[in-house]
Amino acid sequence: MKITVSLIKADVGSVAGHVRVHPELINVAKQSLEEAKKKGIIIDYYVFNAGDDLELLMTHTKGVDNPTIHELAWNTFLKAKEKAEELHLYAAGQDILSTAFSGNVRGMGPGVAEMEFEERKAEPIVVFAADKTEPGAFNLPIFRIFADPFCNPGLIIDPRQHDGYRFVVVDVIEGKQIELSTPEEMYDLLALIGHTSRYIIKYVYSKHEDIGIAAVVSTERLSLIAGRYVGKDDPVAIIRAQHGLPAMGEILEAFATGHLVKGALRGSHHAPLLPVPLKYSQCTRFDGPPRIVGLGFCLANGKLIGPIDLFDDPAFDWTRMKVMQIMDYIRAHGPFEPHMLSEQEMEYTTLPKVLERLKDRWKPYKSTPGK
Ligand code: 13P
Ligand code: 13P
Ligand code: MG
Ligand code: MG
Repeated sequence: MKITVSLIKADVGSVAGHVRVHPELINVAKQSLEEAKKKGIIIDYYVFNAGDDLELLMTHTKGVDNPTIHELAWNTFLKAKEKAEELHLYAAGQDILSTAFSGNVRGMGPGVAEMEFEERKAEPIVVFAADKTEPGAFNLPIFRIFADPFCNPGLIIDPRQHDGYRFVVVDVIEGKQIELSTPEEMYDLLALIGHTSRYIIKYVYSKHEDIGIAAVVSTERLSLIAGRYVGKDDPVAIIRAQHGLPAMGEILEAFATGHLVKGALRGSHHAPLLPVPLKYSQCTRFDGPPRIVGLGFCLANGKLIGPIDLFDDPAFDWTRMKVMQIMDYIRAHGPFEPHMLSEQEMEYTTLPKVLERLKDRWKPYKSTPGK
């Protein structure tokens, strides 16, 4: 049976700053998706939050980019936005960049990760949702899961993973994509995806036709859509696990580093990524540290069996401690690079205004001291 898993998210307002989605918004979204489930539009759903981002996980048989599913997500976000306005929540409607729906939420503010596949007898999946960071934050862990045997030994010892994977990388600046095959083209892949704000891993495919798609990441970049800073493009991803694909442990291992990502305060800083359980899915210190939650499910004819709150585990305590040490260290740099992003990467900055005010005070540079 062909099943589509759609994870669509938007920040439609949050409590006490960009901290956390209000439970009433979660309820509004649940009601909306429950109605759609009763009508048979979707098979199943799970609503959760990643910090201030409302996450709609849905299963159905309509394929990716389906107008009915996208409209359902869009209308659900509008209902939640109304509730956010009623409660005077902060930044109500933040990611609702357009008012007229035209068949697809892509380019309208929400982030989307969707995949369609033939459901296996046992179909373990994990959905990841991050707050206060950008889609490129997934480049490093996705690379390590699907191409680095020091993270995923299955690449060596599992006969099917041994053949490697196909990666689709999007250039979000020029709006084009390329497919690269690992391990053969690993260095070319790395040459691109190390630049996490431009080249973003969108899909990973097994080289075995019967398995098909392995991973998908949302690649929407709000600032590129809106032409101005409108909040970080807090990303989501879906990864299938086991039986010719990475074991769940081979996937989760990639998040034990606490790698540095772009995000945190005002979307303008580098900070380490903190893996957290849902109860800690709220950004506090320095509007961060950027956080990620991971929920594990099995599918049963599209029904979501789970979730397992995968980072709710002492196995990640050390990563969390390490992340807080790195946070202290990098915070000590204050408004200096490389804690603060480079001038070109800053999502919003007063620099143009400062330069305007100082423009008449610049003098030609002289190599000799004195006036
Ligand atoms: P089991 O033998 O427990 O099924 O585990 C196999 C596996 O892939 C562990 O990583
Ligand atoms: P969000 O993108 O999560 O809304 O955060 C915006 C921000 O500027 C936090 O400091
Ligand atoms: Mg916000
Ligand atoms: Mg957010």
